[in-house]
Amino acid sequence: MATRASTPTSTTRTRAPSTRRREKRFPDVPEGTAPEPAGTSLRALREAAAACKRCDLWRPATQTVFGEGSPKARIFVIGEQPGDREDMAGEPFVGPAGRIFDQAIEDLGLDRKSMYVTNAVKHFKFEPRGKRRIHKQPNPAEQKACHVWLERELKAVKAEVVVCLGAIAAKAVFGSKFALMKQHGEWQELPDGRRAFATMHPSWVLRQRGDADREAAFRTFRADLALLTELERRH
Ligand code: URA
Repeated sequence: MATRASTPTSTTRTRAPSTRRREKRFPDVPEGTAPEPAGTSLRALREAAAACKRCDLWRPATQTVFGEGSPKARIFVIGEQPGDREDMAGEPFVGPAGRIFDQAIEDLGLDRKSMYVTNAVKHFKFEPRGKRRIHKQPNPAEQKACHVWLERELKAVKAEVVVCLGAIAAKAVFGSKFALMKQHGEWQELPDGRRAFATMHPSWVLRQRGDADREAAFRTFRADLALLTELERRH
């Protein structure tokens, strides 16, 4: 495998808006709250989530990165949180981790257009280090505060299959006891009857040291995602 993404998300340079400008956004939305969506459509959810202040992550982040894709998508993909590139672009999985994901689905003959792609947490959490923004994992309170958006997206998109990328997404969907390294690549059933599975996060592939380990990790990741080809064959 020649993984196209070799630059870790955590070391990308950024041009984020100033702190003062960011803090002035959405003056009518009290801290700890979010606007009530004007309906259940993805558009209404996206508009409300744009001004979400349910946790503190909205303040340093550039913007809410809501899910992308059609409400008719057959596959619903959940990552952890936007990274540096996604925070700037306002779209999920457009940086190095997204390129690993794209490469795996392309190898499998799958099309991202048949997918709705989102994250468990919709603001980028980071620690500033000089001009760099170093990715930080969202804590349980931040994950809980954001869960309402994921629940609403899952209702709005009638996908047949849900795919969780990484432990944070997997626990958001299957509960805190889910053991990713043991249960990845195994079909599960959600309470609403939909089928779902988890695999590793694409950043896990990027974090492996050395080409051989990175290749092996990529093959594991792609083998789990190959469960989706069964679904595509039925259409
Ligand atoms: N990692 C994620 O989990 N989601 C993104 O959108 C980008 C990187």
